[in-house]
Amino acid sequence: MARALELGSDSAVLRSHPHLSFGSGAYVYEIARAGDKSVYSVSDGSNKISEPIVYTFGQGNAGQTYVIFHDGSYYESRVSFYREIGGLDLTLGSRDMAPASLNEALGRKMSHNDARDCFGCHATGAVGGSQLQLYKLVPGIRCEACHGSGERHVAAMRSGSVEAKQIFNPGILSGDLLSQEFCGSCHRSVDEVFAMPQRGEINNLRFQPYRIFKSKCYQDDRRISCIACHDPHAELISNPAFYDSKCLSCHLSSRKPKRESSAKTIPETAERKPGGCTVEVRNCVTCHMPKIELPGAHFKFSDHWIRIVRPNEPVPY
Ligand code: HEC
Ligand code: HEC
Ligand code: HEC
Ligand code: HEC
Ligand code: HEC
Ligand code: HEC
Repeated sequence: MARALELGSDSAVLRSHPHLSFGSGAYVYEIARAGDKSVYSVSDGSNKISEPIVYTFGQGNAGQTYVIFHDGSYYESRVSFYREIGGLDLTLGSRDMAPASLNEALGRKMSHNDARDCFGCHATGAVGGSQLQLYKLVPGIRCEACHGSGERHVAAMRSGSVEAKQIFNPGILSGDLLSQEFCGSCHRSVDEVFAMPQRGEINNLRFQPYRIFKSKCYQDDRRISCIACHDPHAELISNPAFYDSKCLSCHLSSRKPKRESSAKTIPETAERKPGGCTVEVRNCVTCHMPKIELPGAHFKFSDHWIRIVRPNEPVPY
């Protein structure tokens, strides 16, 4: 998450792709590296707008969208980079809009509230109260985004008040508060998704707190909270076998899993059998959390709605 936002000058994606281009209707897009900058431009054949990329959003695992400054406003680029295709395509959300002018083809002009929301979820320190304060922005999700201000911690430690460390430890939250309120404040909680028209339809595939809430496994239990499977301080683990012990901490025997909120994770042992699964004893997530492509995203999200997947059944939302 530390790379959820970068400066245009630092972006690994932009440095390793010094020239990108894409055509959509009458418009031609280009992103070209010049020194330590990447310049984003759009042309309609007779006129052209070019601006340096100020910020990149997304480490580019799925995609990366650009923010440029033009005519006194920030714009979200109309095209984004997608790793799967190694190039540009329309940004999700701009796919259904036909731009009426070169300015509109550049991208979506961000209102103050848009900018505040985007920077609030992708960077640290960019929002104070309800105001955008980009001069304080630290790129990406840093320690302080989750643990509170380091200044207060340093002051407390200097003053010798070791008991009051002044660090918020999210580890004290219950399973529900942690998954829905804490991680869900950026990844979208079940309440937030319920407030969306049609719950965001299939787009809610990327809202893991909502998806996992919908699975029969989900209870206010630490063994199914986000941090049972993810360490927010480490890289995402792609080896499916890693997650088996997480499933088996509940699916121990042929009995139905019982509610038990004290244990965080119970390591797998040889005697434990995956209760109920008549099909396989390992790599549970490959079948029960399948990777599903979100239209236009060029990325397969892991479905956190843990369930029995039957062939030809539509993906629920
Ligand atoms: C301040 C907002 C914020 C909070 C709070 C937050 N996340 Fe994230 N998280 C993000 C953003 C933004 C990304 C996308 C980063 C990217 O791909 O560039 C992300 C990405 C991730 C990823 C994928 C990482 C990868 O390498 O693909 C995981 C896993 C994750 N978050 C888990 C968590 C968990 C667990 C919590 C709660 C303990 C949490 N997040 C809280 C904003 C947040
Ligand atoms: C409510 C918090 C929130 C807001 C607001 C938000 N994002 Fe995100 N964004 C996330 C999280 C969490 C992820 C990672 C999970 C995912 O991919 O859906 C993410 C993922 C992304 C990705 C893909 C990252 C990757 O690794 O491929 C891009 C690009 C992105 N956001 C751009 C934006 C832009 C541009 C805006 C503003 C128009 C914005 N986001 C607003 C939370 C947010
Ligand atoms: C996305 C949110 C997030 C970010 C970013 C984050 N942490 Fe954490 N941190 C957590 C959560 C959640 C826990 C509780 C984990 C648990 O209980 O298993 C935690 C626990 C900790 C603990 C143990 C606290 C205790 O008293 O037991 C330390 C130390 C820590 N984090 C340091 C850091 C540092 C240093 C950084 C920056 C490099 C950082 N964290 C970034 C979410 C985050
Ligand atoms: C916190 C405990 C817990 C964890 C962790 C957990 N489950 Fe479950 N799971 C349950 C409970 C409870 C049920 C509902 C049982 C019932 O009603 O019969 C369930 C039901 C299921 C079902 C049946 C769903 C259906 O639609 O009938 C599947 C499949 C499943 N779990 C797979 C998994 C997999 C795979 C993992 C790991 C990725 C996992 N579970 C992790 C508690 C858990
Ligand atoms: C039972 C285990 C489990 C739990 C609990 C869990 N995840 Fe995941 N998550 C996974 C797996 C497996 C992947 C796919 C890893 C891979 O293959 O790269 C994943 C991937 C992700 C990704 C990357 C995007 C994607 O779809 O690949 C994000 C973001 C994420 N999880 C966020 C969360 C959040 C937020 C929570 C809490 C609401 C959560 N996860 C709870 C198992 C879990
Ligand atoms: C190869 C795909 C596959 C793998 C891997 C797999 N399962 Fe399953 N699982 C299924 C299918 C298919 C069903 C439905 C079986 C049926 O209805 O006869 C199922 C059923 C279940 C059920 C519900 C049983 C019931 O009738 O209530 C649970 C719980 C479950 N699996 C857990 C797990 C766990 C835990 C793992 C890993 C240790 C796992 N599964 C690995 C395919 C798989």
